[in-house]
Amino acid sequence: MNLENIKQQKTPFYYYDLALLNETLEDAKINAQKYNYHIHYALKANTNTKILQPIKELGFGADCVSGNEVLRALEVGFAPAEIAFAGVGKSDEEINIGLDNDIFAFNCESIEEIEVINELAKAKNKIAKIALRLNPNVDAKTHKYITTGLEENKFGINSWELENIIDILPKLENIVLTGLHFHIGSQITSMTPFKNLCIRVNELNTWFKEQNIEIKHLNLGGGLGIDYNEPEANPIPDFELFFGVFNQFLEPFPHQEIHFELGRSLVANCGSLISKVLYIKKGIKTNFAILDAGMTELIRPAIYQAYHNIENLTSTSNEVEFYDVVGPICESSDCFGKRVQLKETKRGDFIKIHSTGAYGEVMSSKYNLREPNPVIYKD
Ligand code: LLP
Repeated sequence: MNLENIKQQKTPFYYYDLALLNETLEDAKINAQKYNYHIHYALKANTNTKILQPIKELGFGADCVSGNEVLRALEVGFAPAEIAFAGVGKSDEEINIGLDNDIFAFNCESIEEIEVINELAKAKNKIAKIALRLNPNVDAKTHKYITTGLEENKFGINSWELENIIDILPKLENIVLTGLHFHIGSQITSMTPFKNLCIRVNELNTWFKEQNIEIKHLNLGGGLGIDYNEPEANPIPDFELFFGVFNQFLEPFPHQEIHFELGRSLVANCGSLISKVLYIKKGIKTNFAILDAGMTELIRPAIYQAYHNIENLTSTSNEVEFYDVVGPICESSDCFGKRVQLKETKRGDFIKIHSTGAYGEVMSSKYNLREPNPVIYKD
């Protein structure tokens, strides 16, 4: 990161290191290819065209959760046959976008949704390919807001609904079941939940076989976590370990394709949020470093108490101090970190918030009539 260039820029801004992105993508690809696994990039993590382009060029598919994400993926050039469309509440209009483009599969979350897709496909005289998103009831042991694979969550079809579903499916003439889909949560750093997922998927996969239902693909979702604590020491997640777990514990039938939907692990560490210190304000117990970036630019700390490494890029002091690093928004939760150790910090210093390439810019808002963020890419 060239400091002189950075100092010329209007803050706050998102900064993406495209070289690191490419390195990460290559590593994921090489390790997935060992087992012939297919990766769909989960667009929800970051939808910038400059980020999507290399992902598409390396041959990844796309995992979308809205009609607009499907359209964005198509615009960038992802092949329709590589686009999965997930989401618990797809509107008719969004389903029609998927149907018109003959996508790889709709990942379906309820009987009601499957019936609507069937109706809409019938009106277009098409056969829609669907995967059933099954709730494996596996605990991802991550933050409760990003845990998705438990029966208490709104996601997926629960095991007690399966008999009913397979009774109904043959009556729906405009859909064909091609796959089973799972996703247990996000920012998962232990491999145990993934191992448990494999065990559950093996059981469900066998159950479908016993019912004489052919399943062409298994989609294991995303969820691989990154090292938010030491992003510079570990910029690339351990894809070798991750895919190795599936290779060891998943028991697909010989003809079955294996798919993943990775978001965060591919893009988080290539992005950072750069901000300037507006004021240092003395509090009762701590000093506040008030930045010109706030929860409107990066909401993860406010809603998940997420940790992001924070660094003062420009201080030349040899002293370190503790600061509560906060934004300018009128909410107490607008805080990027409490008691953050930084080099002695003053007004005008540039602050880097690390690992914001996933679920950073895409989750920004206009609250307080904030302006859109400029974006800078380094090739
Ligand atoms: N597939 C499905 C069905 C998903 O729901 C998600 C993420 C992914 C794949 C990609 O998961 P990843 O590889 O990125 O973990 N805003 C939160 C994360 C929400 C994740 C939602 N689903 C955060 O900032 O931590």
